[in-house]
Amino acid sequence: MSFETTKINTDNKEKFYNLLTQQAEGLLSAEKNLIANAANLSSLLYHSLDSVNWVGFYLLKDDELVLGPFQGQVACTRIPVGQGVCGTAFEKNKTLRIEDVHAFKGHIACDSASNSELVIPIRVNNKTIGVLDIDSPIYNRFDSEDQKGCENIAQIFEKSIVI
Ligand code: SME
Repeated sequence: MSFETTKINTDNKEKFYNLLTQQAEGLLSAEKNLIANAANLSSLLYHSLDSVNWVGFYLLKDDELVLGPFQGQVACTRIPVGQGVCGTAFEKNKTLRIEDVHAFKGHIACDSASNSELVIPIRVNNKTIGVLDIDSPIYNRFDSEDQKGCENIAQIFEKSIVI
């Protein structure tokens, strides 16, 4: 199988996210397995979004978030619920868009290149099962349009999997 993950060249974010959403739908619609779709979505986002150094999933296992499929440098394997940006987004069940991770109390520096971060809770069958974490070396990389675009794509992921 081949799938085009070439960067979409457009200055228009709305158009960019519309195209990326279509790509995510195409990529995820043929498979229902959590790990397979998390792995492919990490790759799609990592190779499509500008200026990101880490994209991946942390998934709840025995009251901790455990590293799941990702793209980027090796990362922390376990994050306690309530700690770091990921553990806080999970606990609050709320997207966290952090313009400067160094100013976030309790930030966990897995990849020292990361300066801003977008963390989106993943909900399946009315339960939060983990988070999607997107990191950038650029301060304030993510604006509200990025948040909305990535949340929509996270929803496509949520709907695609059966657990
Ligand atoms: N910075 C995150 C940890 C995960 S890594 O960045 C991949 C946090 O504070 O939760």
